Amino acid sequence: MAQANSSGTSGSGTSGSGTTGSGTANGIRGRVIGVSIAAALGGFLFGFDTAVINGAVDALAGAFDLGVGLKGFAVSSALIGCAVGAWFAGPLANRFGRIPTMLIAAVLFLVSAIGSGLAFGVIDLIIWRVVGGLGVGAASVIAPAYIAEVSPAHVRGRLGSLQQLAIVTGIFVALLSDALLAGVAGGAAEPLWGLDAWRWMFIAEAIPAVVYGIMAMRLPESPRYLVARGNVDKAAEVLTLVTGTIDVKAKITEISGTINTERTESLSDLRGNRFGLKPIVWVGILLSIFQQFVGINVIFYYSTTLWRSVGFDESDALTITVITSVTNIVVTIIAILLVDRVGRRLMLMVGSIGMAVTLGLMAVAFSFGTLDAEGAVSLPDPWSTVALISANAFVVFFGATWGPLVWVLLGEMFPNSIRAGALAVAAAAQWAANFFISTTFPAFAEIGLTFAYGFYAFFALLSFFFVYFKVAETKGKELESMTEDGKVERRTRAPRS
Ligand code: GLC
Repeated sequence: MAQANSSGTSGSGTSGSGTTGSGTANGIRGRVIGVSIAAALGGFLFGFDTAVINGAVDALAGAFDLGVGLKGFAVSSALIGCAVGAWFAGPLANRFGRIPTMLIAAVLFLVSAIGSGLAFGVIDLIIWRVVGGLGVGAASVIAPAYIAEVSPAHVRGRLGSLQQLAIVTGIFVALLSDALLAGVAGGAAEPLWGLDAWRWMFIAEAIPAVVYGIMAMRLPESPRYLVARGNVDKAAEVLTLVTGTIDVKAKITEISGTINTERTESLSDLRGNRFGLKPIVWVGILLSIFQQFVGINVIFYYSTTLWRSVGFDESDALTITVITSVTNIVVTIIAILLVDRVGRRLMLMVGSIGMAVTLGLMAVAFSFGTLDAEGAVSLPDPWSTVALISANAFVVFFGATWGPLVWVLLGEMFPNSIRAGALAVAAAAQWAANFFISTTFPAFAEIGLTFAYGFYAFFALLSFFFVYFKVAETKGKELESMTEDGKVERRTRAPRS
């Protein structure tokens, strides 16, 4: 077993990851960052897979002669797969381990990329999209759980936020690769290298899927999972390697005290007497629902409609969508810089207020909208400017707070004994909420955009009170301090490595 020295900066063990290190604090920091980036790559595929359909959907609707309903379903069907994939990722991660679950997700991404790209008709295309969704759902559970489980407490927020950075980068790269492929072919429906360009848009995902699979194979298994399976020596080796914990034995004893090593955790462990579930499970589910009910994905999935209403034509709309997704990447960095200093609660509350105000302004702006000859909403000055600025400011508030922090919290807020299962249920609820919000938007918009944005603003405001009353601060706290009622125990800070 690898032993750490008394300075707390040793980490010269070797692991299944195939990495050996110099044992310096920098070496450990480098390794834990590397390990977190590799795990976060699942987030890249999550972002890529959900956004890639944008550039392909019109061309494939033409190729398969789809009506509006089927076209919409071709887009949203993947979200059903995401909810199911998230749900099953918990039991899989508990039974087979975090790394095999990542490998399963990588295979699902690969199969879906090739299958969607070579689809014969709309039925098998939808099936392949659902298969990809299963991978997205699984990746959305396994990345936050794994990153939280290998990170030292004092930088866990930063490392957890890497997942959101990967998600938004994935969204951006998918939009870019769609635009490039369509550009080279002269349109998404035009032929390119023997296939229609839209088919290549899906096939392109095979590249990050293979990279993810290879990187996952090189990662060490999570020490918390290893302790749960009684593999204490290996757990000590990984802990020393990635976190350089001073007293590995004490840490392992502490982890063991929070885990039932006799049997594998199951979904029935989430049961409690607060409406059938443990209080902390409800907090996770509600955080997820609020994150989606502020309408972020409406901005991404229906961006063209929004930008056209403020006076841009279709070709400008793509440019603005790209600008919005770059904004989303840049503001995630703000979260990475602040999360372990300012803390989760304050950032979420600032985000809630910012989102409520900006969404509220959009609701007001759209009350001045008129319908043009084609039946599309258009806004007069200065309301078009108000809507444009508010929409982007909303993305800034979301991207710097609720976007990354919900994933960070879902990774760290549950006790060791229920983490994977509780995270899976909360993430499944998030995908179901995402499906609800994105499929109801056209109907909401029919009632009126003021109603739609007003609805999202209301939930943003409500999310402030939810965080204030129900979410405990987890900054700098050990995973071993998390409790089932959601009150984080006061324990000493993790030693800095
Ligand atoms: C978060 C949300 C996801 C959204 C993304 C956009 O990761 O969970 O639904 O698409 O942020 O920034």
